[in-house]
Amino acid sequence: MPQETGSFYITTPIYYVNDVPHIGHSYTTVAADCVARFKRLKGLKVLFLTGTDEHGQKVELSASEAKKGPLEFADAVVGRFRDLWGLLDISNDDFIRTTEQRHKKAATHLWDKVRANGDIYLGEYEDWYCTPCETFFTEKQLKDGRCPDCGRTVERLKEPSYFFRLSRYAGPLLRHIEANPDFIMPEGKRNEIVSFVKEGLRDLSVSRTTFSWGIPVPDDPGHVMYVWFDALTNYLTATGYPDENDEKGVFWPADMHLIGKDILRFHAVYWPAFLLSAGMVLPKAIFAHGWWTVDGAKMSKSKGNVVDPVQVIKAYGKDAFRYFLLREVPFGLDGDFSLSALKGRFNSDLANDLGNLLSRSLSMIEKYADGVIPGVAASRDRDALELKIKSIFALLPKDYETAMDGLRFSDALNSLWTAVRELNGYVERSAPWKEKDRDVLSNILYTLAEGLRIIGVYIYPFMPESADKIWSSLGMERGISGASFDEEVKWGGIRAGKGIRKTGPLFPRIL
Ligand code: MSP
Repeated sequence: MPQETGSFYITTPIYYVNDVPHIGHSYTTVAADCVARFKRLKGLKVLFLTGTDEHGQKVELSASEAKKGPLEFADAVVGRFRDLWGLLDISNDDFIRTTEQRHKKAATHLWDKVRANGDIYLGEYEDWYCTPCETFFTEKQLKDGRCPDCGRTVERLKEPSYFFRLSRYAGPLLRHIEANPDFIMPEGKRNEIVSFVKEGLRDLSVSRTTFSWGIPVPDDPGHVMYVWFDALTNYLTATGYPDENDEKGVFWPADMHLIGKDILRFHAVYWPAFLLSAGMVLPKAIFAHGWWTVDGAKMSKSKGNVVDPVQVIKAYGKDAFRYFLLREVPFGLDGDFSLSALKGRFNSDLANDLGNLLSRSLSMIEKYADGVIPGVAASRDRDALELKIKSIFALLPKDYETAMDGLRFSDALNSLWTAVRELNGYVERSAPWKEKDRDVLSNILYTLAEGLRIIGVYIYPFMPESADKIWSSLGMERGISGASFDEEVKWGGIRAGKGIRKTGPLFPRIL
C-alpha cells in the first residue's frame, strides 16, 4: 500500500450516463466510500471523487433513441446517480461531469501537453469497432467475429484520426510496474497487464470524426477526443488541473483509483502513458475488483436480471446492502449476488449477532442500572472473562487496519465479528441476570457498553448510519465522523453516568 501522508485521494470510475445505476456501480462506489471514511477517521485529509462520463457515441446514440439532446439526456441520468449515492450515504467530496467547463479545460490542456511532447500525430485508422464498448479491436482480438468483451457485433471503421504514440511507453511502463509493486493490484491483474505490455503496444487512436458529442480536438474541431482520453483526465480535473495554484493540487498524484476489472487496461496502460507523456506523476495505486453475477448469471438488460440498488435498499436498508457488498466476497474476486444470500447475512450477522448484542445490552443497562452507563468498580479484581474481552479488543486495531489498508474488507469485518460474537458469548457466560454483586454487575454492563462503543467505530466506514445509531443509543453526544480512529478504539473511552437511549432493533429480522 502507498505510504500514508497527510492527504488521501481516492476515485471511482466515472459512470456512463447511457445506463442507469446498478449493483456494479454501487459496488465500486461503496468500497471507495468505505476507504474514504476510514482514512478520514485516521486523520487524513481526503478527496473522494466520483462522477459521470457523458461524452461519446454511446451516449449520443442513447440520447437520440430517447429523442433528447445528449446533454439533456445526461442531465436526467446524472440525477439517478446522485440520488442513489445520497441514498447509500456516499460521502464523496466532489462529483464530476465530463461536460463541465472545468473538465473541458483540463482535457484540452492535457492534450496540448501530450502533443507538445511529440506524442500525437495525424493518421488514418481502420479496424473493427464496438460502439457499446467504445473500443477498436484488431481482427485477431475478435471472438467469432464479435466483440471479445461484450459479444455484440462490431463494424469496420475507417477514419482520419489522431494517434497517441503509445508504442513509445511500453518500456517506461514496464519499468514503473516493476519498481512499484502496488501500482496495479491485485497481483494476478498486475501480471495480466505485464504480459499485455510485453507483447508490445500499438499506437492508440485518440480522436473521432464520425460523431461530434465530445471535447473538440484543439486546433482541429472536426475531431472530438476519444472518450477514454477525455474520461481518464477527470481524475486530474478534480485536483484543479491545470491551475497550478489550485489548493486541491496537493491531492495529485491520486492514492487509489478503484475500478472494475473490465477497465483495467485503460487505467493501467493508457492513463499512465498519457501522464508520462505530459510529464505528470503517476497515481500510486490502481485496484481492480471483480464482477458480480446475479443468481449465478451474468447481469444484463436483455436477461432482465439487473439488480436495482434502490429496491434492495428499500427491502433491507442501505447499511445491510453496503455490508453485504463488502462482506460477501473478498475484494478483487468475482462474486454472486442473490437476495437469499443477502437475507442470510442480514439475519445471521446483522440481526442475530450485532443487533441482538446491542438490544440485549441496552435492555440490561436499563433494567439493572436504571438506564445509565455504569462506572467501573475499580476496587475489584478484573475477572478472567472480562480480561479476555479486553485482550480481543486490544488485538483488533492492528488486524482491522492491516486488512483495510490491503482493501481486504471482508477480512476486516471478519476480525470485527469475532469480537461481536465474543461479546455475545460473554453475556451468556457472565450471566448478569444472576449476578448479585453490584460491582461485578456494573463491570459486566460497562464491558458491554464499551465493547459496543468501539464496535461502532469499526463498523462506521461500512455502515455509517448504524454506527451512529449505536453511539447515540449509548448516550454519546458526538457523532463518529470527525472522531479519531486511533483514540476511539482504545478501551475505556465511554463516559459513565450517561443515560442510554433505547431505540427499536438495529436490524429487525427479515422473515
Ligand atoms: N465510463 C467508464 C469508466 C471511465 S473511468 C475514467 C465505464 N463506465 S461504466 O458505467 O460502464 O462502468 C463503471 C464501473 O462499473 C466499472 O468499474 C465496472 O467494472 C463496474 N461494473 C459494471 N458491471 C459490474 C458488475 N456486474 N459487477 C461489478 N462491477 C461492474 O466503464
